[in-house]
This record gives sequence, C-alpha cells and structure tokens, in this order.
Amino acid sequence: MRRITGTYHTTTTAGEAVNAFVPHPLPPRSPALHVTGEIERLHAQALTGLARLEVAGRMVPSTNWFLYGFVRKEAVISSQIEGTQATLREVVTFEATKQAKRPHDVEAVCNYVDAINYARGEVAKPKGLPLSTRLLCESHRRLMKGVRGADKAPGEIRRTQNWIGGTRPGNARFIPPPPEQVGKVMSQFERWLHSDDPLPPLIKAGLAHVQFETIHPFLDGNGRIGRLLIALLLEHWELMPSPLLYLSLAFKRHQSDYYARLAAVRSNGDWEGWTAFYLRCVREAADDGVNVAGGLFELLGRDRRRLASNKRATVAAIQLLDVLPDHPVVTTARVAQLLKITAPTARKAVDVAVEVGILREISGKARDRVFAYHKFLQTLTGDES
Ligand SMILES: Nc1ncnc2c1ncn2[C@@H]1O[C@H](COP(=O)(O)OP(=O)(O)OP(=O)(O)O)[C@@H](O)[C@H]1O
Ligand SMILES: [Mg+2]
Repeated sequence: MRRITGTYHTTTTAGEAVNAFVPHPLPPRSPALHVTGEIERLHAQALTGLARLEVAGRMVPSTNWFLYGFVRKEAVISSQIEGTQATLREVVTFEATKQAKRPHDVEAVCNYVDAINYARGEVAKPKGLPLSTRLLCESHRRLMKGVRGADKAPGEIRRTQNWIGGTRPGNARFIPPPPEQVGKVMSQFERWLHSDDPLPPLIKAGLAHVQFETIHPFLDGNGRIGRLLIALLLEHWELMPSPLLYLSLAFKRHQSDYYARLAAVRSNGDWEGWTAFYLRCVREAADDGVNVAGGLFELLGRDRRRLASNKRATVAAIQLLDVLPDHPVVTTARVAQLLKITAPTARKAVDVAVEVGILREISGKARDRVFAYHKFLQTLTGDES
C-alpha cells in the first residue's frame, strides 16, 4: 500500500451490508505525487505529443474542419466502451438524412455529441456555466436523453447506492460513496478543480478523471461523462487550443488496464501507476490524432487536385469538397442547401464527385440517394469503428 486514498463506510443496500468507499479530497497526500523520474519523462513525452497535435491542427483551413469528425469519432468510441454498437458511418448518415426512426445506439452517440458540444459551449461562453457539478449534471441530462436513459435519472446526482462490477452489491468489485456523501465529495472535488494546485494541469486532468469515477455520482454514464471531463479540462486549462485530443480510443485499446489502474488507486493508493498509464494514453491519443489529421489533409489535397484536373469538374464540384469534411455524408438536397445552388447544379456536382471516386452512393436506392465521402470516413476511423 503506497498511501490511503479514502475511508470505508459500512452501509446497507439491497438488504446487504457493504463497504462503500469515500475518497479523500484531491490532491494525493502522504506522500504527495511527485513529478520526477518515469512520470516526469512520460509527462514530457505527452506534452510533445500535444504540441505536435496542435501543429497538425493548424495545417487545416479551420479547426471546425477537423472537429466535426474528431468529436463524432470520440462519441462513437467512448460509447463503444460502454457497449454501444453504432458505427461512425451510421451516426453521420443519420445526421445527414434524419430518418424518422433513430436506432437506440445511434441515439446514444448523438446524445454524446450533444453533451460534448453543450459543455464546450458553456465553458467557452463568458456567461456560461463554469466547470462544475452543475455543468456535469446538465451534460449528463443530454447524454441520457431518450428511451434508454430515461430510468437513469438524467441530469441528477444519484440518491441511491450503486456499485461497479458484479450482479449485486455483495459481489461488486467496487462500491462508490453512499448517496448522502456524494454532494460533499463532489463539492470538495469542484473546489480542487478551481484551486491553484501546482501539479501540471495535464496530470491534474488525469487525477480528476479517477476521482470522478471513484465518486460515480450518476446512476449510469459515469465513464462517458468522466472521459468528457478530461477533454473539457484540457481545453479549459489551455493544453490544447482546439480540442483535438480525445482519449477514449487509447482507453478502449487498453480497457482492462484502464479499469485495473482505476481500481489500484483505491486499493493501493497507486496514483503514480495511474498517472503513468494515463500519460502514455495521452501520448498515444496525440500521435493518433496527428496521423489521422495528416491522413485527412493529404486525402483532401489529393482529391482537390484530381477534381481540378478533371474536365467535367464544375465550380460547385470543387466547392463541394470544402464542405465535405464537416458533412461527410450528404444528399443532393443537402448539397444544394450547403452551397446555395439549384438542385440540378448540385446533382451535377455530386455526379462528378462520384465519377472521380470521391463520393459513393450508400443507400442502394434509386430515389433519395445518400452519398458518403467514404475514404474520408475510413481515414478518420482507421480500423477501429
Ligand atoms: N474499479 C473501478 N473504480 C472506479 N471506476 C471504475 C472502475 N472500473 C470501472 N470504472 C469506471 O466506471 C465506468 C463505468 O461506469 P458507468 O456504467 O456509470 O459509465 P458508462 O459511461 O455508462 O459506461 P462506460 O464507462 O463503460 O462507457 C468505466 O468506464 C470506468 O471509467
Ligand atoms: Mg453504463
């Protein structure tokens, strides 16, 4: 045992006596977390990764150009950790076509996108909500909207005892704080977030994630809101001028380590082990972002040259390429609307894009056809979603 990170409280839940864990407030104490040795080295490497990602982000004409895809990719993967099966293409296609019926898995991912956009918007607005329990609750409300989340108390701090792993409290891997303690530990948490703790902000964001997961303040969705919290903190603490770093892919690749590292903070007080794991994930996610961004940038350059050298290419077809990064799935009607052109002109632009292999029809229907910039989606997701 390196240090004690909380206390156990015996409570009765579902007729069983269980030991619920109440974490000590951050930061780690007795001993403090020292940024030396291996952790110092990993921290430096993670920062280098972030700096490279920032440069990659600056290559493109506007950040929104990447953000659309990156945010959706994060939403898909973070939801996959939770067990949701929707793919990026399904989500983007739904957004483009707005079919009346939305499969639950797609809804879950769209909710996640809403929650990210909402939370980022609030933090950026001068009069928006600060990073706080309230903001996390409001984000949770959006995440849990609709059929599947209805019985998960959307937007509310839990009033009952929950547990992680296992079929009942008695055989659970971990019992978070009793409900009557959650308010107190959340306000301690909030106070620490806004304190001037001298630990490097990148490391603080990692500690915050663990503390949040340990408190497990919601009935469900704690993993997703906790991962969203990291992205928000990195943006808020200006570690990334544009929010291009998303950790879910790395957490998903190392899922059993991810859970084991969270557990070891509680059981062994191993903040160092968590921090090393997390910093490796940051570096991996940053490198991943750089590769994806570079791949997308190259692809667009290549396709622009191909269009420009094609005799049938119209002005609209070339303009179409500029809107595809934030609308990688389109219908002809949508193209007409986006480029403010007539339907026949839009149809012609789409035809050319299909001819040169940029767009591909994906609905298989003769009417109401849907087109995907498939290489773009492929480059964005790699093999992973
Ligand atoms: N031993 C542990 N201690 C603390 N937190 C844990 C532990 N094991 C898992 N977790 C966290 O709990 C999350 C699952 O909680 P919950 O089901 O409320 O969240 P979710 O968003 O619905 O699911 P998921 O995180 O699987 O996407 C995991 O993602 C992880 O972040
Ligand atoms: Mg869950």
